[in-house]
Amino acid sequence: MKTIARKITFYVGQIIRFIFYTYLKMNGVKIGNNTFISLGAKIDTQFGEIEIGDNVHITSGCVLLAHDGAIKQMNPGANPRGRIVIGNNVFIGVNTVVLMNVTIGNGTVIGAGSVVNKNIPSRTLAIGNPIKVIKNI
Ligand SMILES: CC(C)(COP(=O)(O)OP(=O)(O)OC[C@H]1O[C@@H](n2cnc3c(N)ncnc32)[C@H](O)[C@@H]1OP(=O)(O)O)[C@@H](O)C(=O)NCCC(=O)NCCS
Repeated sequence: MKTIARKITFYVGQIIRFIFYTYLKMNGVKIGNNTFISLGAKIDTQFGEIEIGDNVHITSGCVLLAHDGAIKQMNPGANPRGRIVIGNNVFIGVNTVVLMNVTIGNGTVIGAGSVVNKNIPSRTLAIGNPIKVIKNI
């Protein structure tokens, strides 16, 4: 019984995910092949641009924020719209916030609960708030 329920949940999840990805793509988010975005993640489709590579894992509770109203409040002349680029084979741990104007390089792992406010090089492990690269991988 539990197995059947799990199978049904899996297939329903796949359908919802397909609709979610289609919605994101229709709103200009670029999503590569074989990329997983948790249904519990928030992807900014309002302003700015988001590009996600192939084989990326964006786990539950992550927020990808391509705009920032706060900077406009502090400086009315500032551009509140930005860009996020996530390379291929990137893993982003639960509840991570990626702020605008950030690039995460290929093969990088971002630890759970991080706040990514600057570019992170390829093939590194980066963690924390503020985010720090702790090693090459
Ligand atoms: C970062 C991570 C991958 C562990 O990598 P690791 O190489 O084994 O790192 P370690 O556990 O040896 O930790 C290295 C240091 O980083 C710290 N650290 C590890 N994860 C951290 C995190 N998410 N935030 C802040 N610090 C963290 C450790 O406390 C340790 O600090 P210290 O050297 O001062 O003792 C893991 O902690 C993590 O965050 N995984 C993501 C899990 C997740 O979100 N999964 C989604 C569902 S699948």
